[in-house]
Amino acid sequence: MSRSILMLPGDGIGPEIVAEAEKVLHKINEKFSLGLHFQSALVGGAAIEETDSPLPDETLDMARKADAILLGAVGGPQWDKRPMASRPEKGLLGLRSNLQLFANLRPAILYPQLASASSLKPEVVSGLDIMIVRELTGGIYFGQPRGVRELESGERQGYNTYAYTESEIRRIGRVAFEAAQQRGKKLCSVDKANVLEVTVLWREIMEDLRREYPDVELSHMYVDNAAMQLVRAPKQFDVIVTGNMFGDILSDEAAMLTGSIGMLPSASLNSEKQGMYEPCHGSAPDIAGKGIANPLATILSGAMMLRYSLGEEKAAGAIEAAVSKVLDQGLRTADIMSADGRKVSTREMGDAVLAAL
Ligand code: NAD
Ligand code: IPM
Ligand code: MN
Repeated sequence: MSRSILMLPGDGIGPEIVAEAEKVLHKINEKFSLGLHFQSALVGGAAIEETDSPLPDETLDMARKADAILLGAVGGPQWDKRPMASRPEKGLLGLRSNLQLFANLRPAILYPQLASASSLKPEVVSGLDIMIVRELTGGIYFGQPRGVRELESGERQGYNTYAYTESEIRRIGRVAFEAAQQRGKKLCSVDKANVLEVTVLWREIMEDLRREYPDVELSHMYVDNAAMQLVRAPKQFDVIVTGNMFGDILSDEAAMLTGSIGMLPSASLNSEKQGMYEPCHGSAPDIAGKGIANPLATILSGAMMLRYSLGEEKAAGAIEAAVSKVLDQGLRTADIMSADGRKVSTREMGDAVLAAL
C-alpha cells in the first residue's frame, strides 16, 4: 500500500525540527515497510516569499491529496505588519478550514525523566497524562463578521464574533466523549457559560451528549478556573474539551507542565481521519537558525500521524519508545535541560532518536 505524506516545514525553527522528524519517519518507513512516500511544499512566510500567498493553490491541492500532513510552524516578526488576510498564520488556518480539520488533539504527557524540567513540583505533576480536545475550525477564530470599522465618533473599533452552531459543538463533543471512553472515562468541558451565550449552548449540547455515553463522567468548568486548576492540581483531568481559543491557551499552559512547549505534539483530524500533525509551539523566532530547538514535539507528532491517520500503532509506539530511551540516556535540548542532563543540539537529538529506533 502506498501512502503519501506531505511535509510543510514553514518558518523559523520549522525547517530545523521537520528535518529531524523526516529522518525518523524515513527510518520507520523502512523498518516497518510502511510504503510511505514523502513530498514537501511551501506554507506560511516561506510561501509568501516565493508566491506572495501564505497558502498557494499548489500546496492546498497537495494537502487535499495527501494521506497525512506534517507541519513545522509558521510566522515571524518580518511578516507581522502584513494585513491579517495575507499573514503566514492564514496559511495554517486555511489548511485547517479547507480540510475541515475540526478536531485538534493535544496530549500533555509528562515523561517521568522530565519531572524536574516541569515548572511544577514533581508530586503535583508526576504521572500527568491529559488530552486536550480543542475545536479547531470554528469559534472566534472564524466567526463573522470580523474586522476593524470606523464608528460615527470617528474612533476605530476592532471586532470578532464568537459563534458555534449546534452541529459544530456536537461533532467535537463526540470526539471528546469517544477519547474519554478509550482513556480514564472522565471528560471536563471548559466554557464561559456564566457570561457568553455561545458557551451556554456549548454546555447544553455537551449535557445532551452525556446520554449517549453513560460510561463517561462529564463535568463542566469555567475557563478561568480551569486555567488555575491546571497548575494547582493538573492530574484531576483526563480529557478536556473546549473551543478554539480557550483550547489554544490552555494547551500552551499544559505544555509547560510536561517540561517544555517543545514536548507537546498534536493531531488535527477531519471526519475521514485525514490529518495534519504539528507541534503545538510556534516558529520560535528567538532561537531560529541556532540549531537548539527541541524537535521532540514534531517527532512525536509523526508518531501521532502513524497512529491516527495511518493505523500503524506499532510504528507509532516504536517512535514513542525511542523518545523515551533518549530521555533515559540523559540527552536534553536547552529547553528541557536539567543538572544531570547532557545538552544536545536539534540535530543531535534527532540522531539519538534515530539510533534508538
Ligand atoms: P512560540 O511557540 O514560537 O515561542 C514561545 C517560546 O517558546 C519562545 O521562547 C521559543 O523559543 C520557545 N519554544 C517554542 N518552541 C520551542 C522548541 N521546539 N524548542 C525550544 N523552545 C521552543 O510562540 P510565539 O513566540 O508567541 O510565536 C512566534 C511565531 O510563531 C508567531 O509568528 C506566531 O504566530 C507563530 N505561531 C505559530 C504556530 C504554528 O505554526 N502552529 C503556533 C504558535 C505560534
Ligand atoms: C497554534 C497556533 C495557531 C493557533 C496560530 C499560529 C494561528 O497558536 O497552533 O496553537 O492559534 O491556532
Ligand atoms: Mn497556539
